[in-house]
Amino acid sequence: MEPVTALAHPNIAFIKYWGNRDDELRLPSNGSLSMNLDGLFTRTTVSFQPSLPLDELIINGHEITGPALERVSFMLDLVRGAAKMNQRAEVISENNFPAGAGIASSASAFAALALAATRAAGLDWSERELSRLARRGSGSACRSIPGGFVEWQAGTSDEDSFAFSIAPADHWALADCIAIVSAAHKKTGSTEGHAIAETSPLQAARVADAPRRLDLCRAAILNRDFDSLASIVELDSDMMHAVMMTSSPALHYWQSASIAVMESVRSWRRDGTPACYTVDAGANVHVLCPENDAQEIASRLREIDGVKDVLTARVGGPAEIVENS
Ligand code: DP6
Repeated sequence: MEPVTALAHPNIAFIKYWGNRDDELRLPSNGSLSMNLDGLFTRTTVSFQPSLPLDELIINGHEITGPALERVSFMLDLVRGAAKMNQRAEVISENNFPAGAGIASSASAFAALALAATRAAGLDWSERELSRLARRGSGSACRSIPGGFVEWQAGTSDEDSFAFSIAPADHWALADCIAIVSAAHKKTGSTEGHAIAETSPLQAARVADAPRRLDLCRAAILNRDFDSLASIVELDSDMMHAVMMTSSPALHYWQSASIAVMESVRSWRRDGTPACYTVDAGANVHVLCPENDAQEIASRLREIDGVKDVLTARVGGPAEIVENS
């Protein structure tokens, strides 16, 4: 069968996914909303081959085995089941952003894999079906299938838990300036974090209030209202970190440089510069701003003690098939 190559972007959540109602199906405790990151991508080629005894995974030129390969094989098994075939596959994947830069590669990785693997197996799936499949690999990956500004409706079952675009990439010229404060691999990954979210007494309140935050965030995006976006995005990030810090075991992702960046961003906004922060399961701080202000924000961020580098991304499009190179 012909190899197929797909490309997908990572995404940054404005309203976060944290905790599952079903870990196996990756049905989230709450809906979430994100923006795809242009310029950063995973490119993955899948070829099913009759001669292969086992699936093979090569990431950035290195052969990978163990849990990462098992997670890929789990998704390939879903594809093989749907296509009624049993050939093993070679999966060759590359990220153009530094590994361990604290930018989750699982979202772009499983979105690109879902698209490349289904096409390579001869399946021509809809965006919704692809989003559901990507979700099984990594929850946030379902948001990297559609383009632009994307909402993942929590749903109640495998069928209705998928992501869709609420506005295309060119709807609003925003940028994400990612302040890298630590390139170290995080100690506790999101999968383990989701599993203990319920141990925090604050998680129930965070989840109960999620529909309200989603409504405010969706409206802010549709109206291109930066001030409203800023307050709801920061609140949502802080609420997720409050849950993380109060779960058992407690997860403290912020470092002193992360807090310094968040304080600076708040003071810039008080002084009239449109910028807001959001932090995932790591120490790096994503600073959102209008695209026109990105250069200025990036250079201000570089001056903060402990900021090692700044990556800037605009709003990205959907996962797509690309020519084999
Ligand atoms: C903090 O999608 O990485 O980035 O489904 O276990 O792979 P798994 O988790 P993942 O969790 C993302 C957590 C987050 C918030 C978000 O992106 O919504």
